[in-house]
Amino acid sequence: MKIYIPTWPKIHFKTIFTLINAYMSKYWSWYGKNEIRLLKNFSKIHTVKYSLTTISATSALEIILQSLNIGKGCEVIVPAYTWISTVTAVARTGATPVIVDIDPQTLCISTDKIEEAITEKTRAIIPVHLFSAMADMDKIDEIAKKYNLKVVEDCAHAHGALYNNKGAGSLSDAGAFSFQQSKLMSAGEGGMIVTNNRNIANICDSIIHIGWSRFNRIANPPKDIICSKYVLSEFQTAILADWCDYIEAETYKRIKNAELLESLLSDVPSIRFQKTSIGTTRRSYYYFVFMLNLDKIKEGISKYNIIDDLKERGLYSENGWGVPVYKNELWNLNIDTYRKFDTSIAERISMKEVICLPHPLLLTNKKNIINAANIIKKVLDKYQR
Ligand SMILES: Cc1ncc(COP(=O)(O)O)c(C=O)c1O
Repeated sequence: MKIYIPTWPKIHFKTIFTLINAYMSKYWSWYGKNEIRLLKNFSKIHTVKYSLTTISATSALEIILQSLNIGKGCEVIVPAYTWISTVTAVARTGATPVIVDIDPQTLCISTDKIEEAITEKTRAIIPVHLFSAMADMDKIDEIAKKYNLKVVEDCAHAHGALYNNKGAGSLSDAGAFSFQQSKLMSAGEGGMIVTNNRNIANICDSIIHIGWSRFNRIANPPKDIICSKYVLSEFQTAILADWCDYIEAETYKRIKNAELLESLLSDVPSIRFQKTSIGTTRRSYYYFVFMLNLDKIKEGISKYNIIDDLKERGLYSENGWGVPVYKNELWNLNIDTYRKFDTSIAERISMKEVICLPHPLLLTNKKNIINAANIIKKVLDKYQR
């Protein structure tokens, strides 16, 4: 039996006409009518005052950090389990990333481990809303206030997510979203900065537009920051502006199917599920994540045996990078400077426990989800003790 996982990105047919219209309009550069529509609707969904398009989440993180004056001599706290961009963005400003372990339930940064990593050089924390969880933003906010730190949310996986009914990215100084090919909203590539702070928005907009900012209307580049060019075209913003009309309905469908899948698997003793922090009021599923209870799995069996067996029976799954960030194959930074603290939870969970089902599965029908659950049960039945 092959489980149906739709190809991604999703085609929204109305967008074919939006793209034709954008092409015929001959306005293909920045701040055209599609970009304006995107910024307005994305801001509304994520409850922020300002949204700014850029070319990737990686650039969004770098630009935000620059706008906060973070650079050489500063330290920025990041989680041990994330994509490499969360850390390279810090290093590229000249600042030092300080890697902290994760919470074993949410897989987001452990709020119990942040304070011991704070020094007089610490300027910011970057929580990542990872896979299907949001970081504990109430606690992070409390710590940030206590030590006068900035907070930047990495929202690359969190389109449409809400925390205390506020949008991902609105719970901190600024947030960074990704529209890369695999993401929940995609234009092939692209990114978004969101913030409620006009000053941050103004500086970021200037960095993105080689010194111009739509807030000033005049050329008024920020002093001390060399601006660059990270502008999206109308074609990318056209796809994303339309996607804003679908993201909330798609998010609810993913939630419904994820809850169904979790309930179908709830009696399997050899796995547990990624939890989200208590404040989460709408969960975005970039991956549906289950983790192996290693003490219930037969000796000599690794998560890769299980991933392979699932695939043989027709269910594709992924390893969730399979390593903590500093073991990523793209890592060429200094481990010893950046990893001063114990990260054994991130090590164990990323390398041995996490199995990820891709989000397009969660947009399919109930029968397909039941079939997927049955395959998972059969495979785990074989390997659990
Ligand atoms: C957690 C996280 N942050 C940042 C990024 C970077 O996104 P982009 O590819 O748009 O630069 C990704 C990409 O996968 C990611 O997973």
